[in-house]
Amino acid sequence: MTLEQAKEKLALYGQEHVLKYYDELNDKEKADLLQQIDETDFSMLHFTHDRDELPGRGVITPLGAMELDEIEANKDKFMKTGLEAIKAGKVGAVLLAGGMGTRLGSDNPKCMYDIGITKPVYIMQRLIENTMDVVRQADGAWIPFFIMTSEKNHDATTAFMKEHDYFGYDPAHIWFFKQDMAPASDYDGKVYMEGKGRIATSPNGNGGWFLSMSKAGLVDKVHELGIEWLDCFAVDNVLQRIADPLFVGATIESGCVSGAKVVRKVAPDEKVGAMCREDGKPSIVEYYDMTPELMEAKNEKGDPAYNFGVILNYLFRVPELEKIVNEKLTLHIVEKKIPYIDENAQLVKPESPNGYKFEQLILDMIHELDSCLPFEVRREYEFAPIKNKTGVDSVESARELCRGCGIEL
Ligand code: UTP
Repeated sequence: MTLEQAKEKLALYGQEHVLKYYDELNDKEKADLLQQIDETDFSMLHFTHDRDELPGRGVITPLGAMELDEIEANKDKFMKTGLEAIKAGKVGAVLLAGGMGTRLGSDNPKCMYDIGITKPVYIMQRLIENTMDVVRQADGAWIPFFIMTSEKNHDATTAFMKEHDYFGYDPAHIWFFKQDMAPASDYDGKVYMEGKGRIATSPNGNGGWFLSMSKAGLVDKVHELGIEWLDCFAVDNVLQRIADPLFVGATIESGCVSGAKVVRKVAPDEKVGAMCREDGKPSIVEYYDMTPELMEAKNEKGDPAYNFGVILNYLFRVPELEKIVNEKLTLHIVEKKIPYIDENAQLVKPESPNGYKFEQLILDMIHELDSCLPFEVRREYEFAPIKNKTGVDSVESARELCRGCGIEL
């Protein structure tokens, strides 16, 4: 892109300040900035003012889950179906590790966080150990393991894995890919600059994972390997069960094209997204969209109708993913702390949120699909998220849950 073209593009979106220091840059920096302007999608920035133009929610109705008693009653059948699919190489795992983990406040990628007490126990190590349990159950069939990173944490993540010998996983069955970035703006929708020649960017949410995988050529790999199901999960749940044969088997047997692991909510207002139908299709209603009526609604058994919260572990059938890969998902505008250069070109790392980042979320992919099986799991065995340093969903609470599962720390 030429300077003239860059000026035109920026003027279209009211972002002319991006070139403020252009004349001070050297040739390489100039070329890099022009390239970044060329590649950046600024079209979402106006939504900071025009939120009414974002599509609203449809009609929410309940969607029942497959509960623990039903799973127990069909355990042998589900296990057999799941293990058969895994042994046949039809199930792949996708680790979503492109986030910034700003709440945890570590400069390293979240997967490098050490939750150990008497010895190092890294988050990544826990995830690999859990996957290895399934590899053993499947008589040594390696589960193809895809890891999504972002521009900000890719090098650190890959180096960390190599340094630790992939925690015993066979690297021939691991692939890394980078997710896309989105610009980060102030409250007025003007992008921040993180350097004189660089627009501040942030990973574009975990909803773009399949498109990013496709751009990296890894959907071809999925075909080559004959993978039919992808189990997608968050990096920060240290009790995460990966490619769980029971979950895989139940989803296949149900005839659904996707599955979502869910836990029974501890309270109607617990801060987790709840499974539901939206305009008749499966969906997830975010906790901040739960109205008092939804919280009080009961199902035919007299239980709360929106009682199952998602834990960011989803199973998708690959052909259906390919049909929706180019769908525009809901845009989420999230307040964040964004490092930026001030009027004196000094880098500032803010202590509190100072603007927005723009994300698409994996949970919105469920709504694009025709069917989804909510599959209940016990939170004390499978849900130990690490979002914060202390308190709720923290290193402390995750350690406690690990201890309860007999994991040595
Ligand atoms: P979170 O929503 O907790 O975001 O991610 P985060 O960036 O890790 O943490 P905060 O909000 O800044 O504190 C849930 C999961 O989705 C992944 C994360 O790595 C985590 O596994 N994720 C999130 C991505 O892979 N990419 C993103 O752009 C955002």
